[in-house]
Amino acid sequence: IPEYFELEGGDRMPRIGFGTWQASDEVLEKAVEAALEAGYRHFDTARAYENEPALGRALNRWIAGDAARRKQLFVTTKLPPGGNRPESVQEYFDASLRDLNLEYIDLYLIHTPFAFQHVPGDLHPKNPDGSMKVDHSTNLLELWKTVLKLKESGRVRHVGVSNLNAEQLSRVCSVARPACLQVEVHALCQQPALAAAARELGVPIVAYSPLGSKALADSLSAKTGREYPDLLQLPAVVRIAQAHGRTPAQVLLRHTLQRGLAAIPKSTNPTRIKQNISVWDFVLSESDMRELAALDRGENGRICDFSFFGGVQDHPEFPFKK
Ligand code: A2P
Repeated sequence: IPEYFELEGGDRMPRIGFGTWQASDEVLEKAVEAALEAGYRHFDTARAYENEPALGRALNRWIAGDAARRKQLFVTTKLPPGGNRPESVQEYFDASLRDLNLEYIDLYLIHTPFAFQHVPGDLHPKNPDGSMKVDHSTNLLELWKTVLKLKESGRVRHVGVSNLNAEQLSRVCSVARPACLQVEVHALCQQPALAAAARELGVPIVAYSPLGSKALADSLSAKTGREYPDLLQLPAVVRIAQAHGRTPAQVLLRHTLQRGLAAIPKSTNPTRIKQNISVWDFVLSESDMRELAALDRGENGRICDFSFFGGVQDHPEFPFKK
């Protein structure tokens, strides 16, 4: 199976990328160094993660002013929900470019279809009751048209979307096909219908939380009491891993790749960082794939349902039905 997605103009997106959510600056810079060393060239961040300066520092140390090295990298960042209106896009894009300290971004995504109000200096504006200051007036197609225009500057090579459902994806495709759809996909939340719809529309999927995002699951669990199974300990995953002499994480990533998706696992540990990109030299059998497919719990398997953003569930573009 190919190690890259071919994008418009012949650009290549490596199908294993490095996720950067929820790491402190210092830890992240070390992790990115380890990832570059291990061979990662695709890095995924977002304005909302508030780590663009740290990622930019680590990448720029590696680039060392060499344009040929910059070209080897594939860097993604995202328009935060607080920028989801046409007149805010340029300002947030410029800020990302400045903080990453790059000449251009490879891929710029609309992070979520719902929106926060624009509050300068506050990417997560809250009401006194703790709910988010939601902007209900979002026009997703006008927003998408504005994001598409960013390409004209040459400062972004590709644009895409994240956290859209199939209906929203098909709507944005009526204007122009996004370079990718980034959504939560893993063994417990496999999204077969969305994957089929995206395939039909010709939109490649990038799977976030491919290992089940333990940090997010733990923090949600602490708040709501809901239990999230550890993907790495699922008996089927452990058994298949043992049969191949691989780790559970490698089996989960290989499953995602063999389904035709890209994945952006996150780790801050050099051994695990290396492990997660060493998934090109073994093959899951059809029966392994069938057994892994049976782990899907549909909507019940979703971790990142944005329940941590009180109030966005009422937004007209909120993507996930309860
Ligand atoms: P750590 O950073 O200590 O390695 P996701 O990519 O789904 O968000 O999952 C990230 C979580 O999975 C992190 O808690 C990370 O912890 C852990 N993790 C990443 N790679 C591996 C691996 N190969 N084996 C076990 N846990 C991993």
